[in-house]
This record gives sequence, C-alpha cells and structure tokens, in this order.
Amino acid sequence: MAGLIASALGRSTHAIVRAIPDSLCLEALRTESDSTVDLELARRQHDGYIGVLRDQLGLHVVELSAEESLPDAPFVEDAAVVCGGTALITRPGAPSRRKEVEAVKKALQDLQLNVVEMTDENATLDGGDVLFTGREFFVGLSKRTNQRGAEILADTFKDYAVSMVPVCDSLHLKSFCSMAGPNLIVIGSSEPAQKALKTMQQMSDHRYDKLTVPDDAAANCIYLNIPGKGHVLLHRAPEEFPESVKVFEKLKDHMLIPVANSELAKVDGCLTCCSILIDKSPSL
Ligand code: GLY
Repeated sequence: MAGLIASALGRSTHAIVRAIPDSLCLEALRTESDSTVDLELARRQHDGYIGVLRDQLGLHVVELSAEESLPDAPFVEDAAVVCGGTALITRPGAPSRRKEVEAVKKALQDLQLNVVEMTDENATLDGGDVLFTGREFFVGLSKRTNQRGAEILADTFKDYAVSMVPVCDSLHLKSFCSMAGPNLIVIGSSEPAQKALKTMQQMSDHRYDKLTVPDDAAANCIYLNIPGKGHVLLHRAPEEFPESVKVFEKLKDHMLIPVANSELAKVDGCLTCCSILIDKSPSL
C-alpha cells in the first residue's frame, strides 16, 4: 500500500529522552563484554545530545528520570515506534528491558498520542529494528524482534507497507543504517549491511538513494527537517569516525551536527537509540 507523504520525514517538535542510571556501566546489555563505560563522560555526551535537540534545534524535550533497576532505559527508541499521531508501545526482545515501556507509555499518553500496546506475549519488537523511510517501514528480524512483532507493527500503521529484513550480525537493523533525508538511506560498508540494503531494495517499489559510509556504527544518524533550518543530520563525531564524517561532509544541503557518543556505544547505544521523536505540528 502506498504511504502518505514522504516529505513528512524528519518533522519533529518533541523528543523523549531518559537519563542515564549509574547501573548502566555494569549492568546494561552489551555485545562486547569487555567494554568499560566512563559514566561521567557518558552523561556529558548524553547532555550534549539533549542540548542539540533542545537548544540548537528547538525541540520540546521530555526527559524521563533514570531508574536504577532499568540499566538500558536511556535507549528509549526501543520502547515505542511513533509515526504521525500514533505510538506503538513495543514488547522489547530482552526480558530485562520490558518494564522500560511503562514510563515511555505514560509520556506518550501525556503528549496525547494515540497509544497502542503490544500485548501478544509471542511478539517481540525493539524500535532499533524499525526503519521508517517516510514511505514505508523496514523491520529487522533480529535476536530482539520477531515476525509477530513486525506483524503487529504492520497492523498498527496500516497506511504503510512493512517489509521484514533478516539481521544476523548486528544487534538491530539500525545498527548499520538510518535515513539521512526523505529519499536517502545511510548504510555501512560491511558485507551484512550491504546485504541488508540489497534486501530492502528488492522489497521496495521505491528507488532510494544511498550514502555508503566506511563504518557501520556511523551509519546510524538522526535526520530532522526543522522549519527555518531545513535538512539537519546528527552524526557521530569526527574523533570517533573520521572517514565516515568525510562522507557526510559531501551533503551540501544539510546542516551537519556532530554528536559524541563513544560511551553509550560501548553498550550498543547509537544516536537514534537515545530519543523518540514526535511530530505534534498543528496539522496532527
Ligand atoms: N544495551 C542496549 C541493548 O542491548 O538493548
């Protein structure tokens, strides 16, 4: 089924974020078991990220408080998928993360979104596996997200086509890709990333442009379309991924904003993970 308007991609007025608990350092889930997070630096980087959204881009930021029993809770993206005026509260794939959805649900209800809950106990879905292009959804089938979760997403957002993409070597689909504009997919160079892109291209009626960056982790960016500023891209800092940043610098129509994220990346937190973006423009 055809989607609504592609140009709505990136239009956001609000963001939900969540503070970092002390427990993140030792207890957050991670694929690299030997990583040591510098908590103070993680908080400084997270504050920088929030500052970009609120002070530089003018979004209303709702900051949820940290909860020590939920070490992965700053990665709010996994707890809900918001499109237009509807928010699907997910059932995260990691059992230790299931309670994260409670505070996120309340925040989305307070923002008066149409909140839909994923109650099926056979379903799992992490928002990190959901790539919305403005025209359609791609949902990664990963260790965290299963087919039933993707089906419930498709039932929730009936205006859009939903295609499933196997994700084998990464935590989430968006561990190696994201949108950089209404028609532009940023993709990492690894073989699994390129294979996933090929699958997405084969499943779509639409021909997307692609921007290939050397580092998979740098392919996770946040695209925003802000009135008065136009295309904005938050991307990983040049100290972290200098070669990938050289590729972003070729995007002459975008305001580029580097964001440091070295510490949360050690527990598999990427840029999109740390916010839920919501458009409450008057047309909604
Ligand atoms: N640490 C993020 C996650 O594993 O879900």
